[in-house]
Amino acid sequence: MSNPPTFFTQANALLRKNLTYQKRHVKTNVRLVLFPVILILLLFALQTALDILENAADREDDKKKAAACKGCVCVHDGLPQYQDKCPDSDKVCAPQFLPPDDAETCPIWNPLEWPPLLELEIGYGFCSGNNDTACNVTMLFTGTDQSFGESLFGTMFPTNLSINESDIMGSLASVVLGTQLSLPSAVFLDQALSVYTSDTIYQLQQDQCKVNSSFSFNFTHGDSKWNQDVEVKCTQSLTLWRKSFSDIWDEVKGKNPGDYTEGGYMVHNNPISGAFDFLNSNKNIYNVSFLTYKSDNRRYISMSRITRSVNMLSNAFLKFLLGNGTKMLFDFIEEMPKPASPETGRIDITTLLGGLFYTWVILQLFPVILISLVYEKQHNIRIMMKMHGLGDGAYWLISYGYFLAISMLYMLCFVLVGSLFGFAFFRENDYGIQFVFYFTYVNLQIALAFLVAALFSNVKTATVTAYLVVFGTGLLAAFLFPSFVQNDLFPRKWVIVMELYPGFALFRGLYEFAEYITDGNSSGTPGMRWQDLNDSTNGMKQILNIMSIEWIVFLLVAYYLDQVSSSASGRSPLFFLEGFKKKTPLSSQKANMSMQGSRVLDQMDKPDVIQEREKVEQLLLEPAINHGIVCNELKKVYPGRDGNSDKEAVRGLFLAVPQGECFGMLGPNGAGKTSFISMMIGLTKPTSGTAYVKGLDIRTDMNGLYTSMGVCPQHDLLWERLTGREHLLFYGRLKNLKGSALTQAVEDSLKSLNLFNGGVADKQAGKYSGGMKRRLSVAISLIGNPSVVYMDEPSTGLDPASRKRLWDVIKTAKQDRAVILTTHSMEEAEALCDRLGIFVDGSLQCIGNPKELKARYGGSYVLTMTTSLEHESDVQNMVRQLCPNAKKVYHISGTQKFELPKEEVRIADVFGAVDFAKRNFTISAWGLADTTMEDVFIKVAGGNHHTQNLS
Ligand SMILES: *[C@@H]1O[C@H](CO)[C@@H](O)[C@H](O)[C@H]1NC(C)=O
Ligand SMILES: *[C@@H]1O[C@H](CO)[C@@H](O)[C@H](O)[C@H]1NC(C)=O
Ligand SMILES: *[C@@H]1O[C@H](CO)[C@@H](O)[C@H](O)[C@H]1NC(C)=O
Repeated sequence: MSNPPTFFTQANALLRKNLTYQKRHVKTNVRLVLFPVILILLLFALQTALDILENAADREDDKKKAAACKGCVCVHDGLPQYQDKCPDSDKVCAPQFLPPDDAETCPIWNPLEWPPLLELEIGYGFCSGNNDTACNVTMLFTGTDQSFGESLFGTMFPTNLSINESDIMGSLASVVLGTQLSLPSAVFLDQALSVYTSDTIYQLQQDQCKVNSSFSFNFTHGDSKWNQDVEVKCTQSLTLWRKSFSDIWDEVKGKNPGDYTEGGYMVHNNPISGAFDFLNSNKNIYNVSFLTYKSDNRRYISMSRITRSVNMLSNAFLKFLLGNGTKMLFDFIEEMPKPASPETGRIDITTLLGGLFYTWVILQLFPVILISLVYEKQHNIRIMMKMHGLGDGAYWLISYGYFLAISMLYMLCFVLVGSLFGFAFFRENDYGIQFVFYFTYVNLQIALAFLVAALFSNVKTATVTAYLVVFGTGLLAAFLFPSFVQNDLFPRKWVIVMELYPGFALFRGLYEFAEYITDGNSSGTPGMRWQDLNDSTNGMKQILNIMSIEWIVFLLVAYYLDQVSSSASGRSPLFFLEGFKKKTPLSSQKANMSMQGSRVLDQMDKPDVIQEREKVEQLLLEPAINHGIVCNELKKVYPGRDGNSDKEAVRGLFLAVPQGECFGMLGPNGAGKTSFISMMIGLTKPTSGTAYVKGLDIRTDMNGLYTSMGVCPQHDLLWERLTGREHLLFYGRLKNLKGSALTQAVEDSLKSLNLFNGGVADKQAGKYSGGMKRRLSVAISLIGNPSVVYMDEPSTGLDPASRKRLWDVIKTAKQDRAVILTTHSMEEAEALCDRLGIFVDGSLQCIGNPKELKARYGGSYVLTMTTSLEHESDVQNMVRQLCPNAKKVYHISGTQKFELPKEEVRIADVFGAVDFAKRNFTISAWGLADTTMEDVFIKVAGGNHHTQNLS
């Protein structure tokens, strides 16, 4: 016996087979890989169309904005002294000025500090001199206690601005500064301080204004440092008492003396910059409400300007309580640090629509893998390979590896083409993260397919279900899932629960990639980087963890289900505990056996069966004799379901088949032949008893047996796309044949089965006729010179000529082998088998060579006679006179069949009796025949209770 093939040999055989198979499926594979390419082309076309539609000028502008973020800001009307910093001759560089638009889009990591300013309304255009009241800042106040308000205002506006050069911010904070310029929502620097708009800062003073001042402001931004001189104009603040807030309100809203209209707009000549209601404030209560300039129009309220008013009031209250020396300084204002936002305007459809499309593209692989797995299951190819020695380990390794390779190729194609077409989604996100993400996902997807494949047994159902799930998952993920992710109120743990579904996990990952394109990362550039995995809002790390864990879990569960559900191994659901069960030693089982022997006492009336049992017991005592097959009280009981009692499919079978014998097993359907063969080829385990094949126990040494065993299943289990030669090469390799021995064996096999001529060997099996397929199946069962061969109805469905040829092969093959063959065809049994056993209801009814059986059960002639109904009794009488021991075996509406023992009748007497009878009544048909195997079979299989003795 040859050694069992190593794991590597098995893997190698399957790999080579798969490669050949895939070569035949090249078109399918190309179509599969082209799918993402086509999708990307489609998106690209869509994007191009959109870009053309967009205003080209807008995009020019966007480009400038993008350039603006890179340090020096080039503007058309900056100050000439910065000209040299600008590459374009018609523009100048104004580094300290970042227009609000740019402040929105540019990254601001180290925002500048600038002094907080009050927002003022000053009558513009007429404010020329220090004594001009138009230059005054007017503020109104009210409250229950007028003098309290007045005393607050008395300390609110310090007069002296003395600049300490080494602490400019501190100096400026000790006075109240204001400006007419409002502050946009996002700023880099208050434009009141910028180079454009000098001469716009006012210092508010209590008294008649005397001295303007100036200070020098130092900026550092990135590499650039510069210095800005700022003029501060002094202005007197008029604080005026009003009786009530409604008076103030009327005044603010209404027309003031000196107001006039210009070009349809109201110009306030003596405008009000703020109003304060001190309510019930006194030295114990601080309760103030205030209006700032423009606060009637919420759109223009600038929060950073309001804080200055709050500080001004609180400062004054503290001074009132604790004395003039008290200060609560408001030093500076600065923008929050922030990353760059991308240029607005351009619609990046490749990122926007990407989530849905990319999810579909990647999910697409799932049905492909699932269908392939279910196909092998539905067509029993997996079982066939297993019967010829392919272990589960090798099968899983190669199948998994193959799907992984296909998936990775597919993803590579997807990312590569996307990158080539310049999709930011692929180009900007770190390729390392993309690799890890896609790699983890495709692995998870393969494990999931293996898991789901265990639930399906039909390719059509699997296909429809898989595509529906893919389609639905994409839609649900794209239109429902993001709203949960974006909603901060939605509990995070539920998001994680949703992400346990691999389709959503995939979408979340793609969604994060898209987010980092749209919103930029921590360093202000688009795309996800490794350090961004630390972001609390980035779901990528979480997704990777979930997917990795699920991958392992799915793989384990899939392997478990495969072991339990697939009939290829028929393990119990708790198979992994088997190692703990105590194994019963063989010797004690033998002791049990003799006790169980009493149960087969009912077979005592079958001496041939008893004899076979004695032979088996004899053989077991002499283990040296290497009999082909020895079955020792082999038993299979299927547990009863739904209240039915247990079904005994095989009831304690004793059988010994030596090398060189072909044993034919006959029996009606459901007699237990298939259960018997299943146990012998390792598909199921015996309930009790065992069988030894070449001395190896089928319960424990099945793996070692596969190499010396050949199986020809009832239905051809072939790959349509592989040639006959490739089938034989694959199974030959599984039988541990290598190199020239393999080639020779395949060659011989093809020749002997008449599959060699006319290029038949290299035609795909799908194009074979039924006879050729059958012959190929027999060739597969014989490759590698197995010493034991099981053939399940080898010639079913063949025309007589093909059958004859097949028989010739089997006759040659059986010479040095033990062959067990099941068949319905008596002719086949007679032609091929050295011994026959008739198997009924789980046990052998008789056993012997065909001649013996015929002699034993067929020692009679069969007389058939058809008459009209009223003459039936006449026929019976005639037969009884002819032969008193005749048995009626069959009777239906005038046709009767009798068995006449050969020793009691002579044929001539029968003819005479029939002639005589014909004169008395009409015989429409009659016949006399010698027994055939068929009669023996019907007799044994039908059981004696169907015949009735005439006497
Ligand atoms: C100017 O500011 C610096 C730093 O705060 C301080 O040490 C110094 O005393 C100040 N000079 C004056 C004259 O207040
Ligand atoms: C502050 O003034 C409002 C309006 O008059 C008043 O309703 C509220 O009770 C006052 N708060 C305190 C603490 O006195
Ligand atoms: C993420 O944060 C952890 C600790 O907060 C730190 O040790 C790690 O280096 C960070 N990783 C990256 C890639 O920034």
